[in-house]
Amino acid sequence: MKTLMGVALFGFLLVGCSTRPPAIPAASTAHSPRAPQLSEAPTGFVNNGTAVVDDQAHQADLAKFEEFEAISDGLGPLFNAQSCRECHQSPVTGGVSQVTELRVGHKGPDGNFHNAEIPINHGSEIIKGRSLVNQRAICPNAAFPAVDILERAPASETIRTLRSSLSTLGDGFVEAVDDATLMDISKQQCKQDGGKICGLVLRVPVLESPGETRVGRFGWKNQHASLLSFSGDAYLNEIGITNRLFPDEVTNLCNTVAEPNDKAGADGLADIEHFARFIRATKAPGRDPRQGATPAAKAGEALFDKIGCGICHVHTLATAAAGTVINGGKFMIPEALGSKTFHPYGDFLLHDIGTGDGIVTAMEEHYGKRMYQIQWNGLSLEAYRASANRIRTAPLWGVRMRPMLMHDGASLTFRDAILRHRGEAKSVTARFEKLNQADQDAIIEFLKSL
Ligand code: HEC
Ligand code: HEC
Repeated sequence: MKTLMGVALFGFLLVGCSTRPPAIPAASTAHSPRAPQLSEAPTGFVNNGTAVVDDQAHQADLAKFEEFEAISDGLGPLFNAQSCRECHQSPVTGGVSQVTELRVGHKGPDGNFHNAEIPINHGSEIIKGRSLVNQRAICPNAAFPAVDILERAPASETIRTLRSSLSTLGDGFVEAVDDATLMDISKQQCKQDGGKICGLVLRVPVLESPGETRVGRFGWKNQHASLLSFSGDAYLNEIGITNRLFPDEVTNLCNTVAEPNDKAGADGLADIEHFARFIRATKAPGRDPRQGATPAAKAGEALFDKIGCGICHVHTLATAAAGTVINGGKFMIPEALGSKTFHPYGDFLLHDIGTGDGIVTAMEEHYGKRMYQIQWNGLSLEAYRASANRIRTAPLWGVRMRPMLMHDGASLTFRDAILRHRGEAKSVTARFEKLNQADQDAIIEFLKSL
């Protein structure tokens, strides 16, 4: 698979999606005749697991995901919330929330995006290497009354945006999709319609397997491919808990607990392993059967495909077979996740639909301060730069649980979200605008069923 996705292919994806793609050996896709019999992934907003682990273990993982961290556990010094559940909660733990995060940066003289430089503690330290601005801090406090570390975006950081929380439910199925499947979707898109719609594939580091990369699929910018990597990233950057994948604090000012804060417990698992296993055992978000059965929603579903929404919001994906080893050799797909079809209404690829915020994924923030000590196989900085104005197609499963839409949460109705689609989606949006009122409404009734 590595040879498939070398620098040459990136070149093709970046410089001209409209040119004919180079011949690519047949990839094993969801529809491969060699694939074993596929079955439907279980759905529903319940926290009782998909048999990745037994229910008792799942409840233990759930408790970790819901646990509130204190200063004595290593919370902060800079952080956004005390528990994963604070931002991943609705309608059940692991789901979504209205919490948004702040990201800022600036354009350098070279024309490229540069990470923020945020002075803290009256300028005694400058936080670099991130675009995230943490919105909470543990000090000043009784022990450190004069240490003032809260981050605030300086005026010089002229690129600013909000990023809304995402649901993690069903993400075990997304993780279990073969790289080749996502690359194949991109290839098919880029061939249609003169390449107007052409999803960018981004290879990202798999932190638990230093040197290995995989096709990114998680986060608004596809910054991760592995749920363990994402959990390590979130534990440090959201909660301030250092862990084996992220052993370095963002700042050592008013830090009192030795690193890494997250250590293996009596069961041999660190918290980040519990988080990843919790997410892998969640069911896919289920549709609202009552809404889905209405004539309008049914008509809307057909129109959704007819006008081309489904080119990016892909209905159905399939996972690789059980026993397939992914994440750089560190995770074997279990029976419960292997050979499953699921309906994310997303392609997990990056597109420029005119909503991009110009922010390039911050390497040290997402992959750790030591990432440059490692040679990552197939990592392309040009591909990252090209993603500045691209956003992952928002998977629409469970979208009825999100009252604030798009990466910045700035679209408050489905219609507004649809009309914001420009760029690659321009002709699809134009087709939506040409529909009569009843047909436009039908598409929205369909979205309300997801
Ligand atoms: C302060 C709010 C907040 C907290 C706390 C938080 N998250 Fe998140 N989470 C987010 C936001 C915002 C995103 C989207 C991030 C992005 O791409 O910019 C996200 C995305 C994710 C995703 C990717 C989902 C997808 O389908 O793409 C995973 C996985 C995840 N978080 C896991 C965790 C875990 C595990 C924890 C606890 C260690 C955690 N999060 C704590 C806000 C939070
Ligand atoms: C070229 C690919 C593409 C096409 C075509 C497309 N979308 Fe999207 N869609 C995206 C991307 C990318 C986002 C996320 C953009 C952002 O957050 O800035 C998105 C976001 C959305 C959202 C917001 C979801 C959320 O959770 O915030 C909705 C709703 C949506 N699309 C519906 C539609 C509908 C309906 C159509 C057809 C009229 C359509 N899209 C066509 C790529 C596409």
